[in-house]
This record gives sequence, structure tokens and C-alpha cells, in this order.
Amino acid sequence: MQATARARANIALVKYWGKADARLKIPAVGSISITLDRLWSDTEVRFDAALAADELELDGRSRPEQLARVSACLDLLRERAGVGTRARVVSRNNFPTGAGLASSASGFAALVGAAAAALGLELSPRELSIYARRGSGSAARSVFGGYVEMHAGREADGSDSYAEPLLAAEDWPLEVVIAIAARGEKDVGSGEGMARSEQSSPYYPAWVAAQPEDLARARAAIAARDFESLAEVAEHSCLKMHAAALAARPPLIYWKGVTLDCIEAVRTLRAAGVPVFFTIDAGPQLKAVCLPEAGERVAAALAEVPGVLEVMTTGLGPGLETRRIGG
Ligand code: DP6
Repeated sequence: MQATARARANIALVKYWGKADARLKIPAVGSISITLDRLWSDTEVRFDAALAADELELDGRSRPEQLARVSACLDLLRERAGVGTRARVVSRNNFPTGAGLASSASGFAALVGAAAAALGLELSPRELSIYARRGSGSAARSVFGGYVEMHAGREADGSDSYAEPLLAAEDWPLEVVIAIAARGEKDVGSGEGMARSEQSSPYYPAWVAAQPEDLARARAAIAARDFESLAEVAEHSCLKMHAAALAARPPLIYWKGVTLDCIEAVRTLRAAGVPVFFTIDAGPQLKAVCLPEAGERVAAALAEVPGVLEVMTTGLGPGLETRRIGG
């Protein structure tokens, strides 16, 4: 009863921010993302009757504070399989954990993939996406590669709240340059940040109301491989999400000065005709999305911004990959 899985990080171009149901992690809005090739979580799950409790090792150390969330996700799969056996989970990210680089997305997608395989459950990608969502909303998208849309759904039980592929990675190759502006885990995680925005930001209702239009524009831009219009809607969605977060009480300021300098650098490049746009999640790192021919120029420009510690370039990658060990 053992399996491993690899799932990749994703970044949203039309953001998920806010929940319709916090317990079931049903998002208040749909979202559209791209799955990244070079940032992944490798997770091994071994169900073992000798264990009295679940165990979690993340990046080489035990993480008791994360265990409840992992166990809750395992419980759903144990219930489905009709077993009570506890598990040991060993997970490793090949990128910094918890710094706004979507480690929960790749982490929970890999966890669900490995646990389902270890239990011998034959789940459809859609079912895996629903289980991954229960771990982290954005993880539902990491089940798929390339361009992905997450549906908020209408059902109270979350049965129609899952992600679906829109377009394969190879059908429109883009590159993503990540400018690392700070290391270490962020102060306010996205789950808590969204809850605070829902409860106290005067802009939150407007954010939710405008989402269908942004989703439609991004879907159309992806179908038409229209970079300019994808750039426009993605930057708008990012800035609008941060505007809603900034207006929360207490405020949520995820950016550092260097984040703003990176925005400036991307805008300067685009004004000079370079096909690139930015997006930023619940942390200080800026992700620049560009056509492949601009990748080197974008990486060089961001590396020059004072305060940028490192730049990483990646293409778009595949969805969840799972391997069962020992039959
Ligand atoms: C800003 O998926 O981390 O990255 O569902 O509470 O686990 P929970 O939140 P999470 O939120 C991601 C928020 C975001 C935008 C996005 O990825 O769409």
C-alpha cells in the first residue's frame, strides 16, 4: 500500500481569492492557471497497519503543524477506500516552501495522487481534482498540465467544483520567469488572507462579481493564442486581487519594495515591445510570463533589479504523475 506521485506548481492568470464554503474549500470564484514544468512536489505515501497515527515529513523534517491538514485529506480517501490504516507521508519540494510559490498546490495534488494509488483507488482526474481541492483550492488545478480552468461550481457539496484542462502545454508554449524577492515563509497564508478579505474588504463583493467576465476573456485569449489580451486580463486580475486584499482589515500587503520594482521592469519591457506580463500571488515573488523568444531578455532584466535574489525560468508542464510501488 505504497505509491509516489509528482505534481507541479501552478500559477493563476485569473486568480482564485475567496471561498463559498470554507470547510469544503469551495472557491467563491473560478480561476485559470498554467502548470509549471520545473517546480514540483514529489510525495510518497505508505499506508502501514503498524502506525498509530499519520506521520508527515516535508523537505527532510517532521512538520506536526501541517499534519492535521494532511490527515484530513487522507481521511477522505480512507473513507472512500473503506480503510482506517494510518500513513507515513514523505514529501519534498524542489523549490522554496511557503513563499508564495504555490507549494500547497503541488503538495496536495501529489498527496492525493499518491494516497489514491497506494489505496488502489481508481479515480478519474476529475475526482482527484475534487479531493485535491479539499486540501488546497489551487491544488485542484495541479492535477492537470498546461492551461487549466477551475470551476467554482454551484452544488453545495462541491461535486461540481473541480478543474479541467483548457489547452495542452505544447499547444501554446509560454515561459515563466520567477523573481525571488524574499526567502522564508510568508506572514499570512492565502487561506487566512482570503478569509480576512471576505470578511472585511469593501472591494470583495466587486471582486467576486467581476470574475465571470475575466474568465471569459482569458478563456478566449488562450483559445486564440492572443498574448496581448491574456496579458491585459492577467495583470488586471492580479492587481484587482491585491486591491481587495490591501483593503482588508487588518490590511494584507504581500508585496515588498522589490516586487514593485519588478512590476516596473516588466512594464518597461512591454512598453519596449517585449511580449511579457506579470502576476503575483500571496507573497512577494513576481512571476513574469512571456513568449519563449523573450525568456532570456526577461530573466536578465529581472536579475538586474536590486533586491532580486534569484531568477528561475520554466516552461509549462504536465499534470499529475503517479506510480504505485509493489503491485
Ligand atoms: C493567491 O489554494 O493556497 O495563489 O484553498 O485556502 O488552500 P486554500 O488557498 P490556496 O490559494 C491560492 C491563492 C492564490 C491565487 C491562485 O492560486 O489562484
